[in-house]
Amino acid sequence: MSPHLFVLFGATGDLAAKKLFPALYRVSREADDGIRVLGVGRSDWDDGDLRDAAVDGLTETGVSDDDARAWAEETLFFAQVEAYDDLDPVFERADEIEAEAETGGNRAYYLALPPSAFPGTIRALGEHEDAAGRAPNEDGEQSGGWTRLVIEKPFGSDLESAKKLNGIVHEHFREEQVYRIDHFLGKETVQNLLVFRFANALFESLWSRAHVERVEVVVTETNDASGRAGYFDGVGTMRDMIQNHLTQLFALTAMEPPARLDAEGIRREKIKVLRSTRTASPEEAVYGQYGAGDGQEAYTEHEGVDADSTTETFAAVRLHVDNWRWQGVPFVLRTGKRLKERLTEILVTFRRPPVALFQGAKGECEPTPNVLRIRLQPDEGFRLSFDVKTPGSGFQTATQHLDFDYESAFGAFPDAYETLLRDVTAGDTTLFVHAEEAEQAWRVYEPLLDADLDVHTYDSGSWGPDEAARLGITLDPDDSPSDC
Ligand code: BG6
Repeated sequence: MSPHLFVLFGATGDLAAKKLFPALYRVSREADDGIRVLGVGRSDWDDGDLRDAAVDGLTETGVSDDDARAWAEETLFFAQVEAYDDLDPVFERADEIEAEAETGGNRAYYLALPPSAFPGTIRALGEHEDAAGRAPNEDGEQSGGWTRLVIEKPFGSDLESAKKLNGIVHEHFREEQVYRIDHFLGKETVQNLLVFRFANALFESLWSRAHVERVEVVVTETNDASGRAGYFDGVGTMRDMIQNHLTQLFALTAMEPPARLDAEGIRREKIKVLRSTRTASPEEAVYGQYGAGDGQEAYTEHEGVDADSTTETFAAVRLHVDNWRWQGVPFVLRTGKRLKERLTEILVTFRRPPVALFQGAKGECEPTPNVLRIRLQPDEGFRLSFDVKTPGSGFQTATQHLDFDYESAFGAFPDAYETLLRDVTAGDTTLFVHAEEAEQAWRVYEPLLDADLDVHTYDSGSWGPDEAARLGITLDPDDSPSDC
């Protein structure tokens, strides 16, 4: 890891306090070779204000006050700007810090900003890099230190805007310099999906239309949109969650084995499977919005939300992949807010036995399929269901499980942002979204983005609108077929 200056745009925001400062603290503690952080914001803050905010964020994650303070004093600085396309105060301060800390001109620019500020900021950064003679040559070599551009989600709001944003980025930066964040990719168990699939021949040989009946990607959340209606209302779950986080999980589950386990190998396969994914159809999508329930107000009662808002807080969509491996296997992506439990998992339902030898042993039940549950949060791990004979005469069967629990095997693991920031400082783009990947992910959902879909109200604390069952899924995990 080389010394560098980490320029954090949006340093006064929530993401910085809760996630980025704790992650930067851990990453820079590991590397004692001079990381400095220059926070940028429009608020009337100085170095002291930024350090106080960071110390608060750090102590909440268990860092002692003394350690947090010592780190903040040494590492953090602040530059105030009037507008994000006028960055002279940032560059002046950056030069001073670099000269003193000898960071070798290496810079990471991290944009944790509202999407409307992306184009102006990227242009201003790019023009500065060009004028300072820091732009890489045709071979990607850069003199005077490296530059990396890190962009938080959302990357555009549809295909056209994502293309436009990529255009602005590529006017000044090479794709290898760009790190588009999807924080799900930093989660340890999401990366473990790759190992699970490609280090275990057992499952990979079953991973196709020949053996899999359907795949579900499920992210149920208990949180709601109160307090962030300004961002969420009008954006909705399709853009906030499905196009990015769930689509990444889908792509990692459905992609072909990469030629190599590096950024190019993995991202190429994800792009390929997204290209093979049929454009979603409004007939195969269900939207919902939480009503009141569990003593909580409805979505439309939140401050900042119109009483007649039709923004979806739940979305389920069935996708189809037109390739040799997956032809005919539905992939159902589903997520919602204010649901009964917080749960992120991928469910792979295998085909049932072709002959129902034991039919009748369980009353009305069909033979149960084997289901592989890859649990990404909480209680990270795997669970494979299978049937066994119960003791006694006759062939009575019961479903049992093989379980693997990640934490009891390995202990706690790093936060997603820590992993991602470590990769930015190490120059590894594997866990970041490629330009074409972002565009393909928007392309898949184009017909849904402005479609006038019915938005079904569901009770807060339920599993979502019953209408979603028409996509061939079971909303309540306690009703899964393996418990039939
Ligand atoms: C964010 C979304 O990107 O991810 C939120 O904007 C969502 O709406 C969050 O709640 C979920 O992330 P995690 O890591 O808490 O599962």
